[in-house]
Amino acid sequence: MKPKIHILATGGTIAGVSASAVSTSYSAGRIDIDTLLATVPQVFELADISGEQFCSIGSQDMNEAIWLKLSSRINSLLSGEDCDGVLITHGTDTMEETAYFLNLTVHSEKPVILVGAMRSASAISEDGPANIYNGIVAICDPKTRGRGVLCCMNNHLIAAKDVVKQHTTYLSAFEGGNSDSVGYVFGNNVYYQRDVTSRHTVNSEFSVEGMDKLPEVGIVYGYAGCSPLPFKALVDAGFDGIVIAGVGNGNLYRDLLPYAEEAAEKSVIIVRSTRCPSGPTSLDAELNDNRYGFIASFNLNPQKSRILLMLALCRTRDRARIQEYFLQY
Ligand code: SIN
Repeated sequence: MKPKIHILATGGTIAGVSASAVSTSYSAGRIDIDTLLATVPQVFELADISGEQFCSIGSQDMNEAIWLKLSSRINSLLSGEDCDGVLITHGTDTMEETAYFLNLTVHSEKPVILVGAMRSASAISEDGPANIYNGIVAICDPKTRGRGVLCCMNNHLIAAKDVVKQHTTYLSAFEGGNSDSVGYVFGNNVYYQRDVTSRHTVNSEFSVEGMDKLPEVGIVYGYAGCSPLPFKALVDAGFDGIVIAGVGNGNLYRDLLPYAEEAAEKSVIIVRSTRCPSGPTSLDAELNDNRYGFIASFNLNPQKSRILLMLALCRTRDRARIQEYFLQY
């Protein structure tokens, strides 16, 4: 019997239309799931496919409200006998954030894979159909079960915790950041090269079932001579947590440091991450987190640190416990 796979379409360049096959400008999220699936009829030979237009947006407009609904929909689909896996078509701009959010809030061993495209559906040599096909091949493979949420782009299967969009336009835009991809798809075969060791899905203690809002967490970007004004604005607006995309190993400019220390004393949770494209933000390395009351993000970039902090704040405000989450997830 063929596996039953449900596709949730959310928009993005994979559903984008350009004025001509060689135009670089296009509108994201214009074609619906049925039209998209018609570009890759071969998937119907692999699985029983059903599709649903979940939303139609460019992923620059993705937000927490959609994540909460998406997570709930996927949990409901996967808890039934009629669905063996979910494929999500998604814009590439925030794909890594959606993947990481679902990795922590979907509680199933069944495969969940996100795919997108760097070229619109009407471009020469568009990559969307191949990414959809490869994603379906991966979901059909029993070895994919239990690996958490994955992104399938340009043949690579990349874990949600690691995946980063590291180039604005190349077909090879997606990489594993601090880790290699977990595997790849070639033809109708899937080759896994390593396991995913961080906690996710069935081993995640985070649940957003029934929630319609998450704690407010913002990101402040560090730079030479950094003004503390954006940081102060978030504190004054009552944000629960702030992630600092610090310089180097998560360092803060001297004018920002006293404000961050004061906010931590007032129980705003401060996470130090880094603007560097790779490498961990280490605990107590160049800056004593214990003294300042900060948390180090380890291998999470600022945008994923924000997601983990929002979920952590649904459970606790205890700094030591949140630091432990950053080690485990
Ligand atoms: C988007 O993220 O929706 C636009 C860009 C893309 O999908 O590549």
